[in-house]
Formats: sequence, C-alpha cells, structure tokens
Amino acid sequence: MTDTRRPLRIDVITIFPEYLDALRLALVGKAVERGLLTIAVHDLRDWTHDVHRTVDDSPYGGGAGMVMRPEPWWEALGDVTAGADQPRIVVPTPSGRRFDHRYATELATASHLIFCAGRYEGIDQRVIDHWATDELSLGDYVVNGGEVAVLAVVEAVARLLPGMVGNAASVVDDSFATGLLEGPVYTRPEIYGGLAVPAVLRSGDHAAIAAWRREQALTRTRQRRPDLLPPAG
Ligand code: 6GU
Repeated sequence: MTDTRRPLRIDVITIFPEYLDALRLALVGKAVERGLLTIAVHDLRDWTHDVHRTVDDSPYGGGAGMVMRPEPWWEALGDVTAGADQPRIVVPTPSGRRFDHRYATELATASHLIFCAGRYEGIDQRVIDHWATDELSLGDYVVNGGEVAVLAVVEAVARLLPGMVGNAASVVDDSFATGLLEGPVYTRPEIYGGLAVPAVLRSGDHAAIAAWRREQALTRTRQRRPDLLPPAG
C-alpha cells in the first residue's frame, strides 16, 4: 500500500543544537531521508539581540539557579509557528505528563511537533502559559535539560509513523504496544558460553513458539512490572 500521509514536521528549539545531531543517525535519520518526517533544529540564541546572546536571568523571588528569559522563546515560537497549522508545542519538564506508549501514539498522529528544550531551572512560565500545548516528563528523575527528552520522544514517535520500521510487526509486538514486556530473544550459535537456546525456538512448531513467547512475556511482566497487568483475582 502506498502511504499518502504528509511528512511529520518536527522543530526543536534549544541552546545546544549539536545535542540533536543524533537524530541524523539510524532509524530516525533513515526516516528523514525517506521523507516520512522533517526535522529542523533551531538555536534559541538566534533570537537574542544582545552581544552576549543571553538566554537566562535570575529568578523573581530569589532562589537557586537561573530561569530562561521569555523574550527569545517568544520570538522563536512566533517565527517557528508562522503559518503552521495547529502544532503541538511540547515543553519537556520533570513536572510534565509522564511520557509513555499512549502519549507517543498521540503525538504520532499530529502533523507538526515543536519541542522547546529548556535548561537551567526552566523557562519563564508566561512562555508555557501562552504557547505550550504539552508539558512532558520522561519519568521521576531529573536530567539537566530537555534535549535528552526530545531525543527519546522523537525516536519513540518516529517508529510509530506509518511506513517506518521495516517490519511493521516489530512495532505491533513491542513492549507496551501489547501491554506486556517482551521476552528473551536469541540468535546463532545454538550453544554459546555453555548455554543453549531454548529447544522450542528450534522446533519449527510455530504455535508452540507463539505460546512460549506469550508465556515468557507474561512471566517477565509479572516479575518486573506487575503494575502493567490487570489486578489479580
Ligand atoms: Cl522532560 N526534563 C528534565 N530536565 N528532567 C526530566 C525530564 C525532562 N523528565 C524527567 N526528568
């Protein structure tokens, strides 16, 4: 089947554009080459006007650290959204909505994603109040800036795009798409380090293999992530 979807447009605004160079590699890079998505990375400092290209200032009310000034963000978002149709404007922050498979599928249906990767103690709240549609968190820990979240989210979203990953089934079977963790996988040789590949995988019995994989997924999920399973009994 021919895919007629327009490429997903992704813009990233950051003070560390080189951080996003990794998006040119591997699967996401291939997807860009194949026209499934476009990625433009913008240097926030291009929207400053002082000789030092200042993006931060001290917090009102006092306290530790610095806050990102509103003006460069406001101007950047004005330019990047010019003529754009209903973009999702995503601000990564530890106080955001927890990113998960469902959230990734939501973002994958958008036509335009704009990521605002903040640093320091965060971005002046007025930018978020006026511009953001989404505040997104990777999980319950703190990293030093939004860039690593953008890498994770773009990779998770890109692999859900129609026409992405070579084998569509590998997305369908992924952990969290099925609601279960994936079980163990093996390749040649049959015995390595004195350890054998489970016999069922070499049996050629496709029904038995499917049943074994399902059992492994269930066992692993029960042991590691019981919160993903329906409450027992
Ligand atoms: Cl999105 N940003 C930062 N700085 N820390 C985080 C995070 C995001 N998600 C979890 N921790």
